[in-house]
Amino acid sequence: MTSTVLITGGLGYIGSHTAVELLERGHEVIILDNLCNSSESVMDGIQKITGKTPKLYIGDIRDREILQMIFKGHNVESVMHFAGLKAVGESEEKPLLYHDNNVTGSITLFDAMMKAQVKRVIFSSSATVYGTSDNYKLTEDMPLNPSNVYGKTKLKVEEILCDLKKTNPQLGVAILRYFNPVGAHPSGFIGENPKGTPNNLMPYIADVASGIREKLFIFGDDYETPDGTGLRDYIHVKDLALGHIAALNKLEIDSDMITVNLGTGKPYSVLDLVHAFELASGKKIPYEVTPRRKGDVAGSFADPALAKELLRWKALSDIHIMCEDTWRWQKNKINLIL
Ligand code: NAD
Ligand code: WQD
Repeated sequence: MTSTVLITGGLGYIGSHTAVELLERGHEVIILDNLCNSSESVMDGIQKITGKTPKLYIGDIRDREILQMIFKGHNVESVMHFAGLKAVGESEEKPLLYHDNNVTGSITLFDAMMKAQVKRVIFSSSATVYGTSDNYKLTEDMPLNPSNVYGKTKLKVEEILCDLKKTNPQLGVAILRYFNPVGAHPSGFIGENPKGTPNNLMPYIADVASGIREKLFIFGDDYETPDGTGLRDYIHVKDLALGHIAALNKLEIDSDMITVNLGTGKPYSVLDLVHAFELASGKKIPYEVTPRRKGDVAGSFADPALAKELLRWKALSDIHIMCEDTWRWQKNKINLIL
C-alpha cells in the first residue's frame, strides 16, 4: 500500500535515508525541516538516488501555521517524526532549548496531527531512555531512567504518545528506540554530516581516516569488557530506515501502539570498530587512550527479538558494510566540501 508520509527532520541523517526507502516504494513524501542540523543540498542526494523530488517545507515543528498549511495542502496519512536535537553534552548545557525543541515541538506537531486526523505516527526514540543498567542487553520492558536531558526529552515524548493513544484509540503509534546508527547510503550520495567536531565514534574515526583529524581519543580501556573499551550496538542507517518501513506496514494493518528496540543485538567494542574501519579504508587509525567520558556506560546492546516478532524486521548489514559505506560517503563528502 502506498500513502502520503510527512517526515519531520527529513533532511537529517536518518530521516533522509528513510525518505529514500519510502520514495523507492512509491510513497509520496513531504519533508519539514528547519535546517538547524542539515542543509538543502541533501535534497540533491535524495534525487540522485531515487530520481524523485519530495515536497520540501523549510520550517519548524513548533510553528503551528506551517503545520496547518502542510496538513491542509496534503492528505497526510502518516507522520515519521525525526525532527529533534540530539547532542547529549549540549542538552546538559541548554536544557530549556532541548525541552522546547524536542518536547514542545512534538506537542505542537501532535496537536496539528490530531486536528488533521492523521492516522499514524512513528517516533524516533533512543536507547538512551534506558539510562544506566547492570545488564548490557536491553529489552523494552526494562526500567527507563535516562541520565541526561536529551534522554529525558525522548522519554517525555514517549509518555505523551502513550497518553495520546489512550484518548485516540484509532491512532497507530510506533516508538522506535534506536541503538547506535552508523553507515551511509551504499550509493555514497547521502550520509551523516555532523557540524563541527563529531561527538560520536564512527564519524570521528572517518575524520581520522581521511586526515581531517590527527588521532582518535578512546574514552577508557578499563571497562569490564573483553578488550576494556566500551561495547555498543552499531546499526546500519539503511537497516534503521527499513525498520521504519516495517513499522509503517505494521501500523497500516492494525492501528496498534508498539515500542521496539532497533538494533542488531551484536555488540562491538571501540577497538573492533577501529580495526574494521582500517580494513575498509586501508588507512591506519592512530589513537590515544584517555580517561572515561562522563556519563558513558560500559556496554549497551539491543535485544531485537520484539522488533523481529512484531515488525518482521531484522538488521542485515554487518560491521564491515557499515564501515565500507561510511568510508565511501566520507570520501564523497570531502570532495563536495573542497
Ligand atoms: P539529525 O540532526 O541529522 O536530523 C534531525 C533533523 O531535524 C535535522 O535535519 C534538523 O535540521 C531537523 N530539526 C531539528 N529540530 C527541528 C525543528 N524544531 N523543526 C524542524 N526540523 C528540526 O539527527 P538524526 O541522527 O537523523 O536523528 C533523527 C532523530 O533520531 C532525532 O530525533 C534523534 O534524537 C533520534 N535518534 C538519533 C540517534 C543517532 O545517534 N543519530 C540515536 C537515537 C535517536
Ligand atoms: C560509542 C563508544 C564511547 C567517541 C550516543 C548518544 C545516544 C545516541 C547515540 C541519540 C563509547 C566511545 C566515542 C570518541 C570514543 N544518540 N568513543 N571516542 O555514547 O553510545 O551514544 O549516540 O540518541 O543518545 O549518547 O555513542 O558514538 O558517542 O560512543 O572512545 O571520540 O565510543 O566512549 O564507548 P554513545 P558514541
